[in-house]
Amino acid sequence: MLVLGIETTCDETGAAVVERLPQGPGRILSNIVLSQIDAHAAFGGVVPEIAARAHVEALDVVIAKAMAEAGVSFAALDGIAAAAGPGLIGGVIVGLTTAKAIALVSEKPLIAVNHLEAHALTARLTDATAFPYCLFLASGGHTQIVAVLGVGNYVRLGTTVDDAIGEAFDKVAKLLGLPYPGGPEVEREALSGNPARVALPRPMLGRQHADFSLSGLKTALRVEAERMAPLSEDDVRDLCASFQQSVLEVVGDRLRAGVKMFREHYGKPNALVAAGGVAANQAIRKVLHQVAFETGTVLVLPPAALCTDNGAMIAWAGAERLALGLTDTLAALPHARWSLHDVTGPEQDASPRSVETPTMAISRPAAFEDG
Ligand code: KG4
Ligand code: ZN
Repeated sequence: MLVLGIETTCDETGAAVVERLPQGPGRILSNIVLSQIDAHAAFGGVVPEIAARAHVEALDVVIAKAMAEAGVSFAALDGIAAAAGPGLIGGVIVGLTTAKAIALVSEKPLIAVNHLEAHALTARLTDATAFPYCLFLASGGHTQIVAVLGVGNYVRLGTTVDDAIGEAFDKVAKLLGLPYPGGPEVEREALSGNPARVALPRPMLGRQHADFSLSGLKTALRVEAERMAPLSEDDVRDLCASFQQSVLEVVGDRLRAGVKMFREHYGKPNALVAAGGVAANQAIRKVLHQVAFETGTVLVLPPAALCTDNGAMIAWAGAERLALGLTDTLAALPHARWSLHDVTGPEQDASPRSVETPTMAISRPAAFEDG
C-alpha cells in the first residue's frame, strides 16, 4: 500500500511517500521537509500568515520532489493523506485542499489525518510497535501522555495545564536572547552550564496524576534572569542548564506516574514511545531510557527527524487508516483544534474517552482541550 502524506500544520512544509506492508514497519520511499525557520526567525516565533503563504509557495514543489524521489506516479498511489489539523488554520487549509485536488484528479481515496495521531503512530512506522503502548508526545503545541490502544483509539492520561514543553523552551530562549526555535539552543547552552546554580521549581513533582505545568517554571526563570541581569554568557548557560534540569526531573516524574496509570487501566504497555520535537533533546532521551529501564518497559525512540513534523508520519497514519477502510470524503474539514481523544477508529465510537484521575480538573478551560 503506497500513500502520499502532506504536512502543513505549522512551520514545516512536508511531503512523503510511504509504503505499508501487510506486517512489519513501513518503508519510507521519500520524505521531503522544507523548514520555514528562516522566514520566522526575525519575529522570534511562527507568524501564521507568513506560514500559510510559505506553504502555498512551496507545497507543489515539495510534493513533486517527494514523488520524484520515491520514483512513483500518482496512479501508483493507493491514497492521499493530509494533516487536517490541529494547527495553524491557514497552513492546514493549504495542505488539505492540495490533497483533495490530487485525490480528485487521480481518483484516489483521501485520508484526513489528525496531526497528533500521526505523531502517535510513528513508532509503528519505524518499529512496528504493537498496541497498546504508552506515548509521550512533547512538541511546541502539545505535551501529553497517551494510552495508544489502537488506530483511532487514544486515551489521554496526562496533559499540560498551561504551556507545552517545547513552548516553554522557546519562551526561555527568547527571554535569554537566544534565536528561534529555542529548544535546540537551550539544549546546546545547557551542555556547558551548571544545572545546580539557579534554584527553580519542579512543578507537579510527586503528584499522583500525570499532568504537567510549565508556566510557573518559566516565570521563575524570568525572575531569576532579571535578578542576575546584565547576563554574562556563563549566566545564560547556567540558566539554560538549570531550566533543563528542572524539566528533566519533571518529565521523569510525570512519565513514571503515566506508566503507572497505564498499568492500572490497561496492563503492561508494549512500549514507552516518544514523539514530537522535544523528543529530539538528548537529555530528555536519557530520561526516557531511565524511566523505561526502571519500569521494565521497552523504549521506542524514533529518529529525531521523525519526531519533529514531517510528511512520512502523515502518510503512515493515512496508510494505517486506509488499511482499516477509514477514508474521508472531499467534504472533510480543516480543524484549528482537534483533540486526539476525539479521533475515531474502526469501531466508529465518537464519544470522547478519558481516564478520570484523582486531581484531574473536572472542567478544563476550553483553550487547553487539545493541548
Ligand atoms: O513537533 P515539532 O517539530 O512541531 C510542533 O510543535 O508540532 O516540535 C517543535 C518544538 C519546538 O518548540 C522546539 O523548540 C522543540 O520542539 N524542540 C526542542 C528540541 N528540538 C526541538 N526542545 C528541546 N530540545 C530540543 N533539542
Ligand atoms: Zn507536531
